[in-house]
Amino acid sequence: MDLLGIPSDAGASRRGCSMGPEALRVAGLRETLVSLGHDVADLGDLRKESGLNQLSVAARQAEVLALAAQSSEKGLASLQRGRLPIFLGGDHSLSMGTISGVARHCAAAKRALHVLWIDAHGDFNTPATSPSGNLHGMPLALLCNEPEFGEAFRGDWRGSVDPQNVTILGARSIDRAERQLLETRGVDVVDMRRIDELGAAALMREIIEKVQATDAHLHVSLDVDAIDPAIAPGAGTPVAGGLTYREAHIAMEMLHDAQCLGSLDIVELNLFLDHAGRSAEILVDLTASLFGRQIMPRQPTRRLIV
Ligand code: ARG
Ligand code: MN
Ligand code: MN
Ligand code: MN
Repeated sequence: MDLLGIPSDAGASRRGCSMGPEALRVAGLRETLVSLGHDVADLGDLRKESGLNQLSVAARQAEVLALAAQSSEKGLASLQRGRLPIFLGGDHSLSMGTISGVARHCAAAKRALHVLWIDAHGDFNTPATSPSGNLHGMPLALLCNEPEFGEAFRGDWRGSVDPQNVTILGARSIDRAERQLLETRGVDVVDMRRIDELGAAALMREIIEKVQATDAHLHVSLDVDAIDPAIAPGAGTPVAGGLTYREAHIAMEMLHDAQCLGSLDIVELNLFLDHAGRSAEILVDLTASLFGRQIMPRQPTRRLIV
């Protein structure tokens, strides 16, 4: 696997997730994966043009788009080398780049792509529906080809994902117009209420079966704010009532057992808001579960028994 840092917060409302990649490294991400037997290369961080504290709206958009172009290339190259890219954010707008690179790889390999977006939010706003104007609330809409993005957003990302092959897990803050879009486009939103009623494991089983039915490449985009802010405070847009520690882990453990993961984003970790590295450590532990850490050893089960 390849680690690639995308240290930008230009798409977010609060600064500080630009320090996410370094926080994940300090929390021992690479060492943890190596201890699980993986071959891990750290490709370092992408470079952003400006270190200014106050960027104009136009400059923030330019930074997001420039980094997206770079991460799309790097992600594609990593997959073409047969590696599994892990993108370290950075705010969630980076996924327009990372997922477009993944989508290009899948198109070349004639492979379906499924995106599992683990997030308190839908990130399915457009410039017309966004209440905040922040680009980290829009990447899924752009990837799913919503038409309300201007010419500046032209690029590989536009329309590279089929909304019917997107699952949002852990949602509990969706804007009114965003909800309408998610419904009409047929995105499966596994919101917190469904998780409360049916349980994380049963819902994960359904998601995994859908991915396995088409032997799709699974891209997981993990936003730290999916996890309850009481245990993961390092999030710029926290929402109460999130995934518990075990709900998040069972999702990761089941994804590991299903052996369908092809690429991963770990985003929105805001070191400036975190408490003594707690959220960074939770993300490293979740990644460990995703890549094979087990409480007690189990036989690998590619097909799950229902
Ligand atoms: N829905 C809100 C917005 O569009 C919040 C989005 C938060 N997104 C995130 N990746 N943290 O502004
Ligand atoms: Mn592949
Ligand atoms: Mn997000
Ligand atoms: Mn979010």
